Amino acid sequence: MRVIVEQDQSGVSRMGAAFVGALVRRKPTCVLGLATGGTPLGMYADLIRMHREEGLDFSRVVTFNLDEYVGLGPTHPQSYRYFMQHNLFDHVNIDPRNTHVPDGRALDFEAYCEQYEKMIRDEGGIDLQVLGVGSDGHIAFNEPGSSLGSRTRLKTLTEETVRDNARFFGSEDAVPRLAITMGVGTILESRQCLLLACGSTKARAIRDTIEGPVTAQVTASALQLHRDVIAVLDQEAARLLERRDYYRQMEEAQERLQTGHGGVVR
Ligand code: GLP
Repeated sequence: MRVIVEQDQSGVSRMGAAFVGALVRRKPTCVLGLATGGTPLGMYADLIRMHREEGLDFSRVVTFNLDEYVGLGPTHPQSYRYFMQHNLFDHVNIDPRNTHVPDGRALDFEAYCEQYEKMIRDEGGIDLQVLGVGSDGHIAFNEPGSSLGSRTRLKTLTEETVRDNARFFGSEDAVPRLAITMGVGTILESRQCLLLACGSTKARAIRDTIEGPVTAQVTASALQLHRDVIAVLDQEAARLLERRDYYRQMEEAQERLQTGHGGVVR
């Protein structure tokens, strides 16, 4: 796993947007996996700026979101569809037909989840999956104990997640208890993963994700099994990592290689 530690949240946002923007330029028909939550907000703002100021073209980009609350329709202000419209889709030239967020009001969830997986396959799979991490170490809504081979399905939220997300709903009672979520297995099939984390509340989850054992108790730790993961963290989220110096040395070596001074890499 490549680990990049930025000074603060705006550094994380800039770096995240740089990775996504570079892919969109390199492959204008790319398939992006997108995440919601407070963490990627700044990255989306940066992508909007890149679209406006630098002409970053989303017209042929296809997106799949990780998850959605069960019961919330697209106009509910806390639904992830609403979040994506307001924080990204409405501000760039993406074709609305190319944006996919799981339907929290599907009539037959089992059939719908299978269909979601098929839609991803039919688009050729996800090129880059953006991920945040829950304070309990979950990715998407794959709560502790989720199978590391899981596919898109319904999942019951843990009390910790309900508590964390209550800030968006005003009270814990208003937070739906069920969500539809890509599985860990679905996420691991993406060609590249971009994990973003900011703030001290994520420090433990990030340590367990990057340096702990691979375990279904911390579903983000399954990313250790993936061949191409970039973790972009701020100082606070990286605080408990033991190998921070080594990650920095890796980045410095990489930079020397790119600037043609590879010979000095020891
Ligand atoms: C929710 C989402 C996750 C997200 C997590 C962290 O649980 N399902 O995809 O990573 O929240 O959110 P935040 O970035 O707001 O801390």
